[in-house]
Amino acid sequence: MALNWIEISKEALLNNIKVIKEKAKGKKILAVVKSNAYGHGLIEVSRILQDSVHAFVVADLEEGLELKNQLKDAKIILSLPPLTEKEIKETAESGFSIFAGNLEYISDLAKMKLGKTLSVHVEINTGMNRSGLSPEGLAKALEIIQNAPHLSLEGIFSHYATLPENINFAKTQAERFRKVIKSTNLPSDTLIHMENSSGILKLLLDITNSVRPGISIYGLISSNSDNKLQPILSLKSTVIDIIRIHKGEGVSYDHLFKAPRDMWVATIPLGYGNGYMWNLKGKADVLFKGQRLPILGKVCMNHIIFDATKVVGYIKVGDVVTLIGKDGGEEITVAELAEKSKTINYEIVTKLSPKLKRVVV
Ligand SMILES: Cc1ncc(COP(=O)(O)O)c(C=O)c1O
Repeated sequence: MALNWIEISKEALLNNIKVIKEKAKGKKILAVVKSNAYGHGLIEVSRILQDSVHAFVVADLEEGLELKNQLKDAKIILSLPPLTEKEIKETAESGFSIFAGNLEYISDLAKMKLGKTLSVHVEINTGMNRSGLSPEGLAKALEIIQNAPHLSLEGIFSHYATLPENINFAKTQAERFRKVIKSTNLPSDTLIHMENSSGILKLLLDITNSVRPGISIYGLISSNSDNKLQPILSLKSTVIDIIRIHKGEGVSYDHLFKAPRDMWVATIPLGYGNGYMWNLKGKADVLFKGQRLPILGKVCMNHIIFDATKVVGYIKVGDVVTLIGKDGGEEITVAELAEKSKTINYEIVTKLSPKLKRVVV
């Protein structure tokens, strides 16, 4: 029996993809499920989405193979380039497409002997300055791809750097992308994409025919008020001990917390070793039957201790508590944990250990 697990709501996930599709106005959905579907569970999430999306964008070859192993017919795009010849061959043989934004890399691909055609999405750098070609580089890349019998152009794309905070710079990027697309002769079936989640919600372009939503799929986009996206993930654990402590006693490592009075503390077997942020020490809560119970002292590798005084008498070993998600009328959101640990939603969920069991509910 798993003591810790993640629940994924199928209903909320299907709702989110429906909302995204409506906002994307018929553009093809390239669902970003990299980094284990932002920590939610690559296979569990992709299985639910498979009939609703055009393709899945995973991180690398390893994730691509994991997904293909479970979803044989899924169209898969690697967002990070396979580098060795062996990996590149395996990528082509597996039928995966790749993102590529470096001219030297594309010319190296062209020189290889691949048994199968490798489909490429060429990246244009419009201001993210992480990867991608200049407009001049694009012309060269397209020529190289056209002349290589084993390479095929599947897409052209760019990536917003500053959404949702700075929409003006995003508009500058969109204009740069538009200029490139308008001045390039592309086959009509080329996938042209730029919008991430915020792009879909705030700056949908007329020049694109596909979109790359990530965080919105998981219902974790900030400034959520104007849409109906819902979080899909809950994190649960099980009480393994309940202890009576006396006023003045310390709790957990270094006794960061000192009991101001006699109290009851309960322990769950989850900690930073499972991906729960260590720096939430003394700041976050767990939920039990709709009540918020504060975490006491330092988060351990595999333990968290919380104040059970309020619920003593009806909490017992084996009871389930919620660390993310709803319980009764209360809810702990990913945004709350992100704010308390001074990070972003993305980090809270992608840190959740792949070893935690994912249960679709
Ligand atoms: C290239 C690319 N496209 C799309 C996305 C999805 O972005 P978001 O999660 O903000 O929707 C990401 C996320 O990191 C990305 O790197």
